Amino acid sequence: MKGIKTLALGAGLGSLLLSAAWAEGLEGKVIGFSQIGSESGWRAAETSVTKAEAAARGIDLKFADAQQKQENQIKAIRGFVAQGVDAILVAPVVATGWEEVLTEAKEANIPVVLLDRGIEAPEDLYLTSVASDQVVEGRVAGEWLVEAVGDKPCNVVELQGTVGSSPAINRKQGFEEALAGKDNLAIIRSQTGDFTRSKGKEVMEGFLKAEGGGGNICAVYAHNDDMAVGAIQAIKDAGLKPGSDILVVSIDAVPDIFSAMAAGEANATVELTPNMAGPAFDALQAYWDAGTVPAKFIITESKLYTPADDPQGEYERRKGLGY
Ligand code: AHR
Repeated sequence: MKGIKTLALGAGLGSLLLSAAWAEGLEGKVIGFSQIGSESGWRAAETSVTKAEAAARGIDLKFADAQQKQENQIKAIRGFVAQGVDAILVAPVVATGWEEVLTEAKEANIPVVLLDRGIEAPEDLYLTSVASDQVVEGRVAGEWLVEAVGDKPCNVVELQGTVGSSPAINRKQGFEEALAGKDNLAIIRSQTGDFTRSKGKEVMEGFLKAEGGGGNICAVYAHNDDMAVGAIQAIKDAGLKPGSDILVVSIDAVPDIFSAMAAGEANATVELTPNMAGPAFDALQAYWDAGTVPAKFIITESKLYTPADDPQGEYERRKGLGY
Protein backbone atom coordinates (compact mmCIF):
# COMPACT_ATOMS: atom_id res chain seq x y z
CA MET A 1 0.00 0.00 0.00
CA LYS A 2 1.87 3.02 -1.20
CA GLY A 3 0.75 6.64 -1.04
CA ILE A 4 0.94 8.66 -4.25
CA LYS A 5 3.40 11.50 -3.94
CA THR A 6 1.55 14.67 -4.79
CA LEU A 7 2.89 17.33 -2.48
CA ALA A 8 6.02 17.47 -0.34
CA LEU A 9 5.77 19.41 2.90
CA GLY A 10 8.67 20.69 4.95
CA ALA A 11 8.63 18.59 8.08
CA GLY A 12 11.13 20.50 10.18
CA LEU A 13 10.30 22.25 13.37
CA GLY A 14 9.29 25.32 11.38
CA SER A 15 6.15 23.48 10.34
CA LEU A 16 5.09 23.36 13.99
CA LEU A 17 4.68 27.11 13.98
CA LEU A 18 1.04 28.08 13.88
CA SER A 19 -0.14 30.16 10.99
CA ALA A 20 -1.88 33.30 12.20
CA ALA A 21 -3.15 33.92 8.66
CA TRP A 22 -5.54 31.00 9.04
CA ALA A 23 -6.53 31.79 12.58
CA GLU A 24 -9.94 33.27 11.81
CA GLY A 25 -11.19 31.08 8.97
CA LEU A 26 -11.99 28.02 11.06
CA GLU A 27 -13.25 29.93 14.11
CA GLY A 28 -16.23 28.10 15.60
CA LYS A 29 -15.92 24.97 13.43
CA VAL A 30 -16.50 21.74 15.33
CA ILE A 31 -14.04 19.01 14.31
CA GLY A 32 -13.90 15.47 15.72
CA PHE A 33 -10.51 13.78 16.09
CA SER A 34 -10.34 10.01 16.53
CA GLN A 35 -6.80 9.38 17.79
CA ILE A 36 -5.30 5.87 18.03
CA GLY A 37 -4.04 6.15 21.60
CA SER A 38 -0.72 7.01 23.21
CA GLU A 39 1.54 4.12 22.23
CA SER A 40 4.60 6.26 21.47
CA GLY A 41 6.28 9.59 22.12
CA TRP A 42 5.51 10.54 18.55
CA ARG A 43 1.80 9.86 19.07
CA ALA A 44 1.78 12.03 22.20
CA ALA A 45 3.35 14.86 20.20
CA GLU A 46 0.82 14.50 17.40
CA THR A 47 -1.99 14.79 19.94
CA SER A 48 -0.45 17.91 21.55
CA VAL A 49 0.24 19.58 18.21
CA THR A 50 -3.28 18.84 16.92
CA LYS A 51 -4.84 20.36 20.03
CA ALA A 52 -2.57 23.43 19.76
CA GLU A 53 -3.27 23.89 16.03
CA ALA A 54 -7.01 23.61 16.68
CA ALA A 55 -6.91 26.09 19.58
CA ALA A 56 -4.92 28.63 17.52
CA ARG A 57 -7.60 28.49 14.81
CA GLY A 58 -10.55 28.75 17.23
CA ILE A 59 -11.70 25.21 16.37
CA ASP A 60 -13.81 23.31 18.88
CA LEU A 61 -11.89 19.99 18.75
CA LYS A 62 -13.73 16.93 20.02
CA PHE A 63 -10.97 14.49 20.97
CA ALA A 64 -11.50 10.72 21.31
CA ASP A 65 -8.70 8.37 22.39
CA ALA A 66 -9.34 4.88 20.96
CA GLN A 67 -6.81 3.09 23.18
CA GLN A 68 -5.45 1.15 20.18
CA LYS A 69 -8.83 -0.37 19.28
CA GLN A 70 -10.44 0.04 15.86
CA GLU A 71 -13.87 -0.65 17.34
CA ASN A 72 -13.43 2.41 19.59
CA GLN A 73 -12.48 4.50 16.57
CA ILE A 74 -15.56 3.35 14.67
CA LYS A 75 -17.74 4.17 17.69
CA ALA A 76 -16.15 7.63 17.99
CA ILE A 77 -16.66 8.39 14.29
CA ARG A 78 -20.33 7.34 14.56
CA GLY A 79 -20.64 9.65 17.58
CA PHE A 80 -19.14 12.56 15.61
CA VAL A 81 -21.58 11.90 12.75
CA ALA A 82 -24.50 11.84 15.21
CA GLN A 83 -23.35 15.17 16.70
CA GLY A 84 -23.19 16.69 13.21
CA VAL A 85 -19.58 17.89 13.43
CA ASP A 86 -18.20 19.95 10.53
CA ALA A 87 -15.32 17.53 9.77
CA ILE A 88 -13.61 14.44 11.15
CA LEU A 89 -9.89 13.69 11.52
CA VAL A 90 -8.94 10.02 11.89
CA ALA A 91 -5.55 8.44 12.57
CA PRO A 92 -6.52 4.88 11.56
CA VAL A 93 -4.96 2.19 13.76
CA VAL A 94 -5.10 -0.47 11.02
CA ALA A 95 -5.48 -0.25 7.26
CA THR A 96 -8.65 -2.29 6.65
CA GLY A 97 -12.26 -2.24 7.88
CA TRP A 98 -13.20 1.42 7.35
CA GLU A 99 -15.61 1.37 4.42
CA GLU A 100 -18.88 1.15 6.31
CA VAL A 101 -18.27 3.90 8.85
CA LEU A 102 -16.67 6.26 6.33
CA THR A 103 -19.64 5.75 4.02
CA GLU A 104 -21.87 6.87 6.90
CA ALA A 105 -19.78 10.06 7.27
CA LYS A 106 -19.91 10.65 3.52
CA GLU A 107 -23.68 10.23 3.46
CA ALA A 108 -23.89 12.83 6.24
CA ASN A 109 -21.75 15.19 4.07
CA ILE A 110 -18.99 15.33 6.68
CA PRO A 111 -15.49 15.52 5.15
CA VAL A 112 -13.00 13.06 6.63
CA VAL A 113 -9.25 13.67 6.72
CA LEU A 114 -6.86 10.78 7.44
CA LEU A 115 -3.83 11.59 9.57
CA ASP A 116 -0.46 9.79 9.53
CA ARG A 117 -1.69 6.34 8.39
CA GLY A 118 -3.29 5.05 5.20
CA ILE A 119 -6.29 2.79 4.65
CA GLU A 120 -7.41 0.30 2.05
CA ALA A 121 -10.73 1.82 0.98
CA PRO A 122 -12.11 3.77 -1.99
CA GLU A 123 -10.49 7.20 -2.12
CA ASP A 124 -13.82 9.01 -2.40
CA LEU A 125 -14.51 8.12 1.26
CA TYR A 126 -12.04 10.75 2.48
CA LEU A 127 -11.21 14.30 1.42
CA THR A 128 -7.47 13.96 1.81
CA SER A 129 -4.78 12.05 3.70
CA VAL A 130 -1.90 13.84 5.43
CA ALA A 131 0.92 11.35 6.01
CA SER A 132 4.50 10.51 5.19
CA ASP A 133 5.39 8.14 2.37
CA GLN A 134 6.07 5.20 4.68
CA VAL A 135 7.70 3.08 1.97
CA VAL A 136 10.20 5.91 1.50
CA GLU A 137 10.82 6.02 5.28
CA GLY A 138 11.72 2.31 5.28
CA ARG A 139 13.88 2.76 2.19
CA VAL A 140 15.77 5.71 3.72
CA ALA A 141 16.47 3.62 6.86
CA GLY A 142 17.57 0.64 4.75
CA GLU A 143 19.79 2.70 2.47
CA TRP A 144 21.51 4.18 5.50
CA LEU A 145 22.27 0.67 6.81
CA VAL A 146 23.51 -0.59 3.43
CA GLU A 147 25.90 2.36 3.27
CA ALA A 148 26.97 1.99 6.93
CA VAL A 149 27.96 -1.70 6.69
CA GLY A 150 29.52 -1.61 3.21
CA ASP A 151 30.65 -5.11 2.21
CA LYS A 152 30.64 -6.55 5.73
CA PRO A 153 28.22 -9.40 6.52
CA CYS A 154 25.31 -8.09 8.61
CA ASN A 155 22.44 -9.96 10.24
CA VAL A 156 19.52 -7.64 10.91
CA VAL A 157 16.63 -8.05 13.35
CA GLU A 158 13.45 -6.08 12.72
CA LEU A 159 10.92 -4.71 15.22
CA GLN A 160 7.69 -4.19 13.31
CA GLY A 161 4.91 -1.77 14.18
CA THR A 162 1.30 -2.72 14.93
CA VAL A 163 0.19 -5.67 12.82
CA GLY A 164 -2.06 -4.55 9.95
CA SER A 165 -1.16 -0.86 10.29
CA SER A 166 0.01 0.98 7.19
CA PRO A 167 3.38 2.05 8.69
CA ALA A 168 4.20 -1.55 9.66
CA ILE A 169 3.35 -2.81 6.18
CA ASN A 170 5.05 0.00 4.26
CA ARG A 171 8.15 0.53 6.41
CA LYS A 172 8.87 -3.20 6.12
CA GLN A 173 8.46 -3.05 2.35
CA GLY A 174 10.69 0.00 1.90
CA PHE A 175 13.46 -1.43 4.08
CA GLU A 176 13.38 -4.73 2.18
CA GLU A 177 13.57 -2.83 -1.11
CA ALA A 178 16.75 -1.08 0.06
CA LEU A 179 18.35 -4.40 1.06
CA ALA A 180 17.32 -6.25 -2.13
CA GLY A 181 20.32 -7.65 -3.98
CA LYS A 182 22.73 -6.98 -1.07
CA ASP A 183 23.86 -10.52 -0.31
CA ASN A 184 25.87 -9.49 2.77
CA LEU A 185 22.72 -8.24 4.57
CA ALA A 186 19.95 -10.54 5.81
CA ILE A 187 16.90 -9.97 7.99
CA ILE A 188 17.18 -12.96 10.29
CA ARG A 189 14.29 -12.20 12.66
CA SER A 190 11.23 -9.98 12.40
CA GLN A 191 8.41 -9.57 14.92
CA THR A 192 5.93 -6.94 16.03
CA GLY A 193 6.71 -4.74 19.02
CA ASP A 194 3.41 -2.88 18.55
CA PHE A 195 5.14 0.54 18.38
CA THR A 196 5.71 0.54 22.17
CA ARG A 197 8.90 0.86 24.18
CA SER A 198 8.04 -2.03 26.50
CA LYS A 199 7.24 -4.48 23.70
CA GLY A 200 10.32 -3.34 21.74
CA LYS A 201 12.44 -4.25 24.76
CA GLU A 202 10.67 -7.56 25.32
CA VAL A 203 10.93 -8.66 21.67
CA MET A 204 14.58 -7.60 21.46
CA GLU A 205 15.33 -9.66 24.58
CA GLY A 206 13.81 -12.64 22.76
CA PHE A 207 15.93 -11.97 19.65
CA LEU A 208 19.12 -11.73 21.72
CA LYS A 209 18.34 -14.96 23.54
CA ALA A 210 17.48 -16.80 20.33
CA GLU A 211 20.71 -15.58 18.70
CA GLY A 212 23.07 -16.88 21.37
CA GLY A 213 23.28 -13.63 23.31
CA GLY A 214 23.37 -11.33 20.30
CA GLY A 215 26.93 -11.77 19.00
CA ASN A 216 25.38 -12.82 15.70
CA ILE A 217 23.28 -9.64 15.36
CA CYS A 218 24.79 -6.68 13.51
CA ALA A 219 21.83 -4.28 13.45
CA VAL A 220 18.30 -3.67 14.69
CA TYR A 221 15.78 -1.89 12.47
CA ALA A 222 12.78 -0.62 14.47
CA HIS A 223 9.67 0.78 12.79
CA ASN A 224 9.65 3.55 15.41
CA ASP A 225 12.02 5.19 17.87
CA ASP A 226 10.16 4.03 20.97
CA MET A 227 10.76 0.37 20.10
CA ALA A 228 14.40 1.26 19.33
CA VAL A 229 14.77 2.83 22.78
CA GLY A 230 13.36 -0.37 24.32
CA ALA A 231 15.76 -2.45 22.20
CA ILE A 232 18.71 -0.30 23.30
CA GLN A 233 17.91 -1.14 26.92
CA ALA A 234 17.69 -4.86 26.09
CA ILE A 235 21.06 -4.74 24.29
CA LYS A 236 22.68 -3.02 27.29
CA ASP A 237 21.14 -5.54 29.69
CA ALA A 238 22.67 -8.32 27.54
CA GLY A 239 26.13 -6.78 28.08
CA LEU A 240 26.50 -5.43 24.53
CA LYS A 241 26.95 -1.87 23.29
CA PRO A 242 24.04 -0.46 21.27
CA GLY A 243 25.30 1.81 18.51
CA SER A 244 28.54 -0.13 18.01
CA ASP A 245 28.16 -3.88 18.78
CA ILE A 246 24.62 -3.65 17.37
CA LEU A 247 23.70 -0.74 15.08
CA VAL A 248 20.31 0.90 15.76
CA VAL A 249 18.22 2.51 13.01
CA SER A 250 14.61 3.63 13.40
CA ILE A 251 11.91 6.14 12.43
CA ASP A 252 10.23 9.21 14.07
CA ALA A 253 13.03 11.51 15.34
CA VAL A 254 11.67 11.84 18.90
CA PRO A 255 13.81 13.55 21.57
CA ASP A 256 14.76 10.28 23.32
CA ILE A 257 16.39 8.83 20.21
CA PHE A 258 18.53 11.97 19.89
CA SER A 259 19.51 11.57 23.51
CA ALA A 260 20.54 7.96 22.74
CA MET A 261 22.37 9.13 19.62
CA ALA A 262 24.28 11.76 21.61
CA ALA A 263 25.36 8.94 23.98
CA GLY A 264 26.57 6.85 21.01
CA GLU A 265 23.76 4.29 21.47
CA ALA A 266 21.69 4.95 18.32
CA ASN A 267 22.88 5.50 14.77
CA ALA A 268 20.12 6.85 12.54
CA THR A 269 16.49 7.95 12.56
CA VAL A 270 14.07 9.17 9.87
CA GLU A 271 11.98 12.17 10.87
CA LEU A 272 8.19 12.03 10.92
CA THR A 273 6.66 15.41 11.68
CA PRO A 274 3.96 15.31 14.39
CA ASN A 275 2.25 18.24 12.68
CA MET A 276 -0.24 16.44 10.46
CA ALA A 277 -3.11 18.63 11.70
CA GLY A 278 -1.75 21.94 10.38
CA PRO A 279 -1.88 20.83 6.71
CA ALA A 280 -5.21 19.07 7.40
CA PHE A 281 -6.82 22.26 8.78
CA ASP A 282 -5.33 24.32 5.93
CA ALA A 283 -6.86 21.89 3.41
CA LEU A 284 -10.27 22.06 5.14
CA GLN A 285 -10.21 25.83 5.21
CA ALA A 286 -9.36 26.12 1.50
CA TYR A 287 -12.08 23.55 0.77
CA TRP A 288 -14.73 25.46 2.71
CA ASP A 289 -13.62 28.99 1.73
CA ALA A 290 -12.93 28.54 -1.97
CA GLY A 291 -14.16 25.05 -2.82
CA THR A 292 -10.55 23.97 -3.43
CA VAL A 293 -10.38 20.19 -3.45
CA PRO A 294 -7.04 19.23 -1.90
CA ALA A 295 -4.58 16.71 -3.32
CA LYS A 296 -5.70 13.23 -2.22
CA PHE A 297 -2.32 12.57 -0.60
CA ILE A 298 -0.45 15.35 1.19
CA ILE A 299 2.98 13.85 1.78
CA THR A 300 5.27 15.04 4.59
CA GLU A 301 9.06 14.97 4.36
CA SER A 302 11.21 11.98 5.49
CA LYS A 303 14.59 13.36 6.56
CA LEU A 304 17.45 11.19 7.80
CA TYR A 305 19.29 12.19 10.99
CA THR A 306 22.59 10.69 12.13
CA PRO A 307 25.15 11.61 14.82
CA ALA A 308 26.54 14.16 12.33
CA ASP A 309 23.36 16.24 12.84
CA ASP A 310 23.99 17.60 16.33
CA PRO A 311 21.86 15.06 18.25
CA GLN A 312 22.18 16.93 21.56
CA GLY A 313 20.93 20.10 19.88
CA GLU A 314 18.05 18.18 18.26
CA TYR A 315 17.15 16.74 21.65
CA GLU A 316 17.10 20.23 23.21
CA ARG A 317 15.02 21.68 20.35
CA ARG A 318 12.36 18.94 20.51
CA LYS A 319 12.06 18.10 24.20
CA GLY A 320 9.41 20.73 24.99
CA LEU A 321 7.22 19.99 21.98
CA GLY A 322 4.83 17.50 23.53
CA TYR A 323 6.67 14.21 22.88
O1 AHR B 1 1.61 6.21 12.23
C1 AHR B 1 2.79 6.77 12.70
C2 AHR B 1 3.46 5.87 13.69
O2 AHR B 1 2.59 5.57 14.74
C3 AHR B 1 4.69 6.43 14.35
O3 AHR B 1 5.85 6.25 13.63
C4 AHR B 1 4.71 5.62 15.60
O4 AHR B 1 5.58 6.11 16.58
C5 AHR B 1 3.29 5.69 15.97
O5 AHR B 1 2.90 4.85 16.91
